[in-house]
Amino acid sequence: MKTTAKRGAAQASTVSYAALGLLAGVLLLGTGGVLWLTASGDGPSIGGAFTLENDAGQIVTARDFRGKYMLVYFGYTVCPDVCPTALNAMTAALQKLGPKARDLTPIFITVDPARDTPEVVRRYTAAFSPNLIGLTGTPAEIAKVAREYRVYYAKHVTGPGPDDYSMDHSSIIYLMGPDGRFIAPIPAEQSPAAMAADIERRLS
Ligand code: NI
Repeated sequence: MKTTAKRGAAQASTVSYAALGLLAGVLLLGTGGVLWLTASGDGPSIGGAFTLENDAGQIVTARDFRGKYMLVYFGYTVCPDVCPTALNAMTAALQKLGPKARDLTPIFITVDPARDTPEVVRRYTAAFSPNLIGLTGTPAEIAKVAREYRVYYAKHVTGPGPDDYSMDHSSIIYLMGPDGRFIAPIPAEQSPAAMAADIERRLS
């Protein structure tokens, strides 16, 4: 009887883990992955090697950013409000941190490489901050880096023309360490002051 009960309990816990995984997947799509990321300390790693193109059209890799913390945000330049809000908060938070942000590199990676050429990305990031680095790449390179960062994105067709589409994407800022390892997700939907405090806490 005891054995049966134990097996039953084990099965129940397996089922609940499976349900948790399903729930986490839904949350990932719904909220940009904040809950999913914080809930999986021993889960799949976040981030990794990448080869992309900077806004001057030069090839850059993850190694080029070693030795500094990175704040990485994925989005696209035609995004009506989610990306501008997040990038405004991120660059304003860094400004608030002042000298404490010296070792932080803010990076924007597009999930819409078809439209976001280096030139387009350069004009876009310059509007937020001269320090914001914009990266694009081939569709395959973007797919790879997005996969490494567990970023969800998908084309959402809105009309018959080639430019009639928007991009659904998760909105989350990744704080990465000087060694390139993931430190913490920084929620994108917070005030610059709250975000600055969030980042400062993670650095100390
Ligand atoms: Ni966006």
